[in-house]
Amino acid sequence: MTSLLPTSALTPSRVPGEDAPDAEVIRFAQTLDGYAAVGGGDVAALGRYVQALDPAPPEALGLDDLRILLFARQRAHSHQGGGWPGEPDRVMQEMRRLTALIRTRVEERGQGVAVWRGDLTRLDVDAIVNAANERMLGGGGVDGAIHRAAGPELLAACRAVPEVRPGVRCPTGEARLTPGFDLPARFVIHTVGPVWRGGAAGEPAQLASAYRAALTRAAEHDLESVAFPAISTGVYGYPPADAARVAVVTVRAVLAERERPLRVLLVAYDAQAEEALEHALAEGEES
Ligand code: APR
Repeated sequence: MTSLLPTSALTPSRVPGEDAPDAEVIRFAQTLDGYAAVGGGDVAALGRYVQALDPAPPEALGLDDLRILLFARQRAHSHQGGGWPGEPDRVMQEMRRLTALIRTRVEERGQGVAVWRGDLTRLDVDAIVNAANERMLGGGGVDGAIHRAAGPELLAACRAVPEVRPGVRCPTGEARLTPGFDLPARFVIHTVGPVWRGGAAGEPAQLASAYRAALTRAAEHDLESVAFPAISTGVYGYPPADAARVAVVTVRAVLAERERPLRVLLVAYDAQAEEALEHALAEGEES
């Protein structure tokens, strides 16, 4: 399963520099699923999309289109190879030009939070957040998916996290960081959200604390991109719309206080979660 780096999570340090080797430019071009990005999912749809971009100069294109164009050029380059022996590799030169444009745009963009629909374990971000439990020894839901994708070393790393009291490694509302092992993400930040008990047992504050604690771990490690699942909205029963509001308000507040992280993704695994998160994002913008 290929790893993905959505444009909304792209940060300057992830874009190859001017003197990066060709292989790095090629690898970067592949961090976008260009076929999915054009909605058609196939080569013909990608070709039509790129044709429709012509004759706009790359300088006039937005960040999403620049990455799709780079993806398309890389596919062409991998099929037809570089230039003729002894001639300049014009496709590679264009890929470098597109990459430099992307880097400038990403540097100018600065901090932000966005919703992304898909499987958190595929994300090639600096850290993904795990909706864990206080034992931190794995479970179902996203916890199970992360442990499956990270491999057995993640469980060993969780076991090595000291208990703060019998059976508790990470109290509700706190967060612990471990390496990501076989995941595309470098780190996993394990946090524990509250079990929903009707909303009058301090759940909103505990959920906000879980988001804030996870972002504090990320800032301590100078991480630039972090992706969250919809914490507590699965097994723990937190209503998605209420949880989305807490997530958006808390993440925005922390980003306003700190330089790091730069980009935060709120990952929706299903349509309901996506709608709740998009609504919470828009709500915040209006106020
Ligand atoms: N990628 C992104 N999101 C996912 C994924 C995935 N691969 N798998 C599940 N989700 C979503 C669910 O759809 C839900 O919206 O993660 C959200 C959180 O659901 P849970 O994983 O059930 O987590 P939570 O409600 O916080 O309950 C935590 O569940 O798995 C156990 O060990 C865990 O005891 C802990 C409890």
